[in-house]
Amino acid sequence: MPLWHAVQVETRDEEAALPYWAFAWAGGLAIGRYLREHPGAVAGRRVFDLGSGSGLCAIAALRAGATTVAAADIDRFAVAAIELNARANGSRISVVGRDVLDEEPPEVDVIVAGDCWYEAGFAERVLPWLRRAQAAGIEILLGDPGRRYLPTDDLRELAAYEVRTTTELEDLAQKQGRVYALRPA
Ligand SMILES: C[S@@+](CC[C@H](N)C(=O)[O-])C[C@H]1O[C@@H](n2cnc3c(N)ncnc32)[C@H](O)[C@@H]1O
Repeated sequence: MPLWHAVQVETRDEEAALPYWAFAWAGGLAIGRYLREHPGAVAGRRVFDLGSGSGLCAIAALRAGATTVAAADIDRFAVAAIELNARANGSRISVVGRDVLDEEPPEVDVIVAGDCWYEAGFAERVLPWLRRAQAAGIEILLGDPGRRYLPTDDLRELAAYEVRTTTELEDLAQKQGRVYALRPA
């Protein structure tokens, strides 16, 4: 709450978004665990992290051996956080600070998206964009703890992990974070 308040003061915007970038969300943590256990999912490949927040999934992808990683977020504080966290982890990540969901999918091999299904408006736009990316031959990895707008019928579960979060954000301090592939359309 103090951090959220600081953002509201800094932006002079009482409607300012939650400081998503200040936390490792359960969906992103699950992707991080998955990439540590299955580095082959991204090793030697170009990766794009959608809704990157802190840069967690992007950093995990680089550590798993991705050749290039780009991280996208619409929140300008997230852009700064990704850059700082990448530097602190010795990772080279290019940061995209605009909304890419109305653009053609990027030229990458894998898109990772951690915890992007918490809000109807965002969720409605993400799935068609991911479908376009899939049609272009890009592999999709999603991480999620069972948020309301998760399109479960479109997904195939790859792994489940107990991940530690915080009761400042969630109802429980431990959540089950699952990693999914997008089923073929
Ligand atoms: C719950 S956070 C997840 C952050 C990170 N992936 C993780 O798991 O820790 C969701 C992120 O999506 C970002 N976001 C929302 N709409 C977006 C959009 N249209 N394009 C890119 N990012 C977006 C938010 O700013 C936020 O940082």
